[in-house]
Amino acid sequence: MKIDYQLKAASERRSEPFAPEGEVGFGRLRTDHMFLMDYRDGVWQDPRIVPYGSISMMPGAMCIHYGQSIFEGAKAFKHDDGEIYTFRLDKNAERMNNSADIVCIPNLDENLQQQAIHALIDVDRLWFPEQDGACLYVRPFIFATEDRLSVSPSQAYTFCVMLSPSGAYYKAGTDKAIRLLITKKFHRAVSGGTGASKAAGNYSASLRAAKEAAEYGAAQVLYLDSTNTQLEEVGAMNHFHVRKDGSIVIPKFTDTILKSITSLTILELGEVLGCEVRQETVMLNQFIADIESGEIIEAGGFGTAAVVSPVGSYIFEDGRIVTVGDGKVGKHIKNIYQVFTDMQLGKRTAPNGWLQ
Ligand code: COI
Repeated sequence: MKIDYQLKAASERRSEPFAPEGEVGFGRLRTDHMFLMDYRDGVWQDPRIVPYGSISMMPGAMCIHYGQSIFEGAKAFKHDDGEIYTFRLDKNAERMNNSADIVCIPNLDENLQQQAIHALIDVDRLWFPEQDGACLYVRPFIFATEDRLSVSPSQAYTFCVMLSPSGAYYKAGTDKAIRLLITKKFHRAVSGGTGASKAAGNYSASLRAAKEAAEYGAAQVLYLDSTNTQLEEVGAMNHFHVRKDGSIVIPKFTDTILKSITSLTILELGEVLGCEVRQETVMLNQFIADIESGEIIEAGGFGTAAVVSPVGSYIFEDGRIVTVGDGKVGKHIKNIYQVFTDMQLGKRTAPNGWLQ
């Protein structure tokens, strides 16, 4: 399928292309264009790149009422050769279709998803921010547009891709370890639900817990399973910890945990990182006991937006605080971050096909 686009003349731009100065922030800026494609009459059709702007929808559009909406998050990086490279975009496209299956949205060809993103980056390449550590954050999403109020899968959808010149997700980057609230009151997902998808509703369901976390001085929430015995994930990231022997442990993927592409990558990079990386069921009581005995020496989160986010301490709803090691950013996390970002930036060889 041909994607119809033309480079816009500078005079047609929403604003001048730029290398934004100062702190770019995460997800705040937009580039000039967006990619759109519609699903109707049983087929995905009409791929196009248009100026970034509002999308008109009927008030009865089903995404508004019943939340049939999914998204992805990926990043593109500028290498020393001046070219912009996406990182493991095939995994995002695959996960988009997995999310689509979970909330009954028709699949969209994975090659086409990637082609759409590359075409859009090509058009808006001048918007790449030049600051250290900055990237183009890629946000593809699909939402239901049929104007109907009965609860059933929509017969019409729009696929959209927008780009955001971005810096770090957390202001502190990897310099400062964050605190997580371990909540027994709120749950992100239950078995048989939508937790393994990037469905928009999973994120609105996390807001109340995030608000509580802020009241506890925590940056995010570490969710447990619905029996409050096992560690699950952080909502915007997967969780991991490092044991005294240097091994990295990520909770086993279940249907209540979103498969982070950063986690998948770390699992595949064990040898390069010089340590064992494995997945296992992580029991809360054991986890806390292992931190207190010094068996667990570092912990953090893996996610596309946040990359690797060190966790210095946990707080429970009864006010109890558990500090990991000395509460600072440890050497294993620094190493993971360095290896991972060096690969994304083309400073270290990445396996074939990871960078496109
Ligand atoms: C990402 O890591 O790309 C995400 O989707 C997290 C986001 C909710 C900020």
